[in-house]
Amino acid sequence: MNAPVPKPWIMDIAPYVPGRSTTDDGRKVVKLSSNENPLGTPAGARAAFAAAADSLERYPDASGSIVREALAAVHGLDPARIIYGNGSDEVLHLAAGAFAGPGDEVIFVRYGFAVYEIAARRTGATPVIAPDRDYATDVDAILACVTERTRVVFVANPNNPTGTYAARAEIARLHAALPATVLLVLDHAYAEYIDGDHDDGGMALAATAANVLVTRTFSKMYGLAAERIGWGYGAAPIVDAMHRIRLPFSMTIAGQHAAVAALADHGWVERCRRENAELRRWFSDEIASLGNAGLRAIPSQANFVLVVFEGALTAEAAYKGLMDEGYIVRWLPGQKLPQALRITIGTAEETRGVAAALRRLVGRAG
Ligand SMILES: Cc1ncc(COP(=O)(O)O)c(C=O)c1O
Repeated sequence: MNAPVPKPWIMDIAPYVPGRSTTDDGRKVVKLSSNENPLGTPAGARAAFAAAADSLERYPDASGSIVREALAAVHGLDPARIIYGNGSDEVLHLAAGAFAGPGDEVIFVRYGFAVYEIAARRTGATPVIAPDRDYATDVDAILACVTERTRVVFVANPNNPTGTYAARAEIARLHAALPATVLLVLDHAYAEYIDGDHDDGGMALAATAANVLVTRTFSKMYGLAAERIGWGYGAAPIVDAMHRIRLPFSMTIAGQHAAVAALADHGWVERCRRENAELRRWFSDEIASLGNAGLRAIPSQANFVLVVFEGALTAEAAYKGLMDEGYIVRWLPGQKLPQALRITIGTAEETRGVAAALRRLVGRAG
């Protein structure tokens, strides 16, 4: 029978698999699988969200002006050069959609964020996967993948699911060596979690270069994952092209007001960053102490740690064992990481609990 035929490149897409929130038997347990903020949402953002209930019959402001103005004030940016979307996921799709198509190539690292491949394939472009260097972004490997067909390079910094961070000099070197016709997308979804005042220089590049887009989100540090508010910054022609294909009303009214209120909570970022950094250090040390059993924590600058299992206890067994003990973490065989678990840094109690559970599992596998 005749029926509509999807484009072949669409059927090549493996659907995105989100982090789980219940166990196989439906129990609701501690969710450490989606890198959400264990400290929740700033109180002002929750109040702004609730207040938006009074205007649900209205379409949101399609230009997102209150969000752009607030971001511009906080980060010292030109509001006209801010693109926004339904989470930074949409902004990543807009970047691929505006700059790549059939016959073009889109580069990202082997253990990179899953949406890059979906965004690339959706346009009909060919995904090109650069090898990593012990799970970290390898600038030379990316550059070796560049051809005259390359249109977009996606780099998450810090990277998900590895948590690794490429320093400013590496990002500068990558940008300097890329052809001017290639769009470099620096995905800063976890930028607020980087230690101290480290800065990979991405925003400065986005402000001055004609081929750099930085993407950011309110989903992680700002605790607004449910409201889907993401944004990006780049040269005016890049942003202009992306605006032409974005959904007209991609940011909800409640989300816009909550995002503005979250930005106004001045202590929030510092407090969350400090708590996360302390627990991340403690957790990474705990994993290091299990090194004899073949466990290894990849150095992380994000709100999660990738734990690699190279001993008797496999990542799959640890994943199932942790679920039995009441912790859902992320096992990523679909991303060619069957040997590792990505574990979100939760509250102090959750983080201590998951570390203790892992220690017990190592003991039993021993
Ligand atoms: C590296 C990276 N980029 C972008 C996103 C998308 O986040 P959101 O669409 O919620 O802004 C995520 C979410 O997990 C991520 O890990």
